[in-house]
Amino acid sequence: MNKSIRLALMLLAATGVASMQYSLAGDVVSLRGHAAPDEETKAPPQKPWRKDGEPLPRDYVQQPPLIPHKIKGYKINLKFNKCLTCHSWANYREAGATKISQTHFEDRDKNVLANVSARRYFCTQCHVPQANAKPLVDNTFKPIEAISGK
Ligand code: HEC
Ligand code: HEC
Repeated sequence: MNKSIRLALMLLAATGVASMQYSLAGDVVSLRGHAAPDEETKAPPQKPWRKDGEPLPRDYVQQPPLIPHKIKGYKINLKFNKCLTCHSWANYREAGATKISQTHFEDRDKNVLANVSARRYFCTQCHVPQANAKPLVDNTFKPIEAISGK
């Protein structure tokens, strides 16, 4: 087959797949509604956060644990990280909080640093609190046996 014909066929197949996925996702409405990316929309109403409580069960081994408490007003910026005032190795005992694990001291080349690695500094990139919200898309995910014990 001629190179350009093959390329055209590949492109056709790819757009076919893309439009199929688009139509499958057609009835999923994001929190912004069906607005164009550059269109300004009203912020959706805030969901009530779950009350502060015990740590939440994890669903898979590598999961960043969910935050079992409110974090409203907790600032994380260049000079200050509210989370570390309770979760750092220096402060966790007094706060009664879980200390950040050793993985949070590793840079991307696995060098172990003396302080929290820059890639783990913005805690809420990975850790999020929970609200009782209806899932946007249904799924049938179940935790593996190693975690659920079932
Ligand atoms: C005022 C102290 C305090 C601050 C500030 C704080 N936490 Fe916590 N955090 C706690 C305590 C206490 C627990 C519960 C520990 C327990 O019950 O085992 C906890 C639990 C957690 C857990 C669950 C750990 C697990 O093993 O499941 C995560 C994740 C977490 N916090 C992340 C954060 C993040 C991210 C921030 C900043 C946005 C933050 N926390 C700010 C005190 C704090
Ligand atoms: C890049 C993603 C990422 C960022 C950013 C991050 N974490 Fe984590 N965190 C994880 C993952 C994944 C785990 C579970 C595996 C592990 O311990 O590394 C975890 C585990 C934890 C735990 C539980 C430790 C344990 O021993 O059970 C705490 C507490 C925690 N993180 C707090 C924080 C705080 C506070 C920050 C900000 C300073 C932060 N994390 C930033 C991904 C992240």
